[in-house]
Amino acid sequence: MKIDKFGVEYWMDLYETKCRYNLAETCVDSISIDQLSELIGEEEEALGGLSSIRLGYGEIPGNLAFRKGVAGLYRNLDVDRILSTNGAIGANFLALFTLVEPGDEVIAVVPTYQQHYSIPESLGGRVKYLRLKKEDDFIPDVVALEAMMSDKTRVICLNSPNNPTGQLIPEGVMARIVEIARAYGAYILSDEVYRHLNQKEGYVPSVIDLYDKGISTGSMSKVFSMAGLRLGWMAGPLDVIAKAYNIRHYNMISCGILDEVIGGVALKHKDLILKRNLGIIRENLEILDDFVKGEPHIDYVKPQGGTTALLYYDMAMTSTELCTLMMEEEGIMLVPGDCFDMGPSMRIGYAFNPSELREGLGKLSEFLRRFD
Ligand SMILES: Cc1ncc(COP(=O)(O)O)c(C=O)c1O
Repeated sequence: MKIDKFGVEYWMDLYETKCRYNLAETCVDSISIDQLSELIGEEEEALGGLSSIRLGYGEIPGNLAFRKGVAGLYRNLDVDRILSTNGAIGANFLALFTLVEPGDEVIAVVPTYQQHYSIPESLGGRVKYLRLKKEDDFIPDVVALEAMMSDKTRVICLNSPNNPTGQLIPEGVMARIVEIARAYGAYILSDEVYRHLNQKEGYVPSVIDLYDKGISTGSMSKVFSMAGLRLGWMAGPLDVIAKAYNIRHYNMISCGILDEVIGGVALKHKDLILKRNLGIIRENLEILDDFVKGEPHIDYVKPQGGTTALLYYDMAMTSTELCTLMMEEEGIMLVPGDCFDMGPSMRIGYAFNPSELREGLGKLSEFLRRFD
């Protein structure tokens, strides 16, 4: 199987453990089991009982308490339409492997997580790219989308809130995308790994709430600060889930039984975790915004959600050159826009500890003085 090199993951792997100021992290400040217990503020039997659980395979499609917790994140979703997976990365892979066959057309809204185009391409699909533009505030152009559709369009891949731009697809635009997909009988794979992380209050519908051929992928990693569980889910129409379940038998059997217990407890108390995490992303976005306003070399489209933003710069260097220099000389890690084919820009992740964010941005400012 031929598949392109996964740009972002290689970059993260190269520098993540070597940097001094990590401004590339995409999870909301990760927590430990002790912090989870403290946050939920009660003696949680399930967490206390972890060490006595027999380490069998567990419930194959996913622990029921965990899947009920996942169902609670949607308006109307039965547990039998949910499979647990190894992170959203496993869910995206499973969904695309289930849906895409050679010759199928897949529309990927880019920039995005590379899985959304490199996997369909490697499966023999023909990928068409709908590019988000800075001048449109990174909102998908539905007229261009409609022009790309054909009877061969099998899936439209979206990611909202978007990595790297942090933009949310507005509800009206999402409704139009659903209409277009429906007219051609296409599926929508919506990577919702940052869903709930909104700058404004209010429920943001999932594709599952809107479309019978919608597939939602999500995980415990970003929104719930537990990437180390390596636990996520795929939710979708029953027939797609049945097909995916067979494929999943071939490469997973089940997720980690302890991970699913912890995930189930966390989702039972989702409101407490979300309160913490929305506090972090909202406070930190203001810190980032002040930084951008004070930096003559930097500008951006202020994110509406998620944990990342694309910072555009005005120096005459490629983003890989700039990020490498910054990392090698000052230990400051961001992700080059080149990893997303986005030109003179860098992705920042801003959802970790506020004092570390201030410190990292301070160092970044010092570094940028070289170019005044
Ligand atoms: C858009 C998007 N989807 C999926 C993933 C995979 O996340 P995980 O497997 O940790 O849930 C990431 C991680 O960065 C991401 O940004």
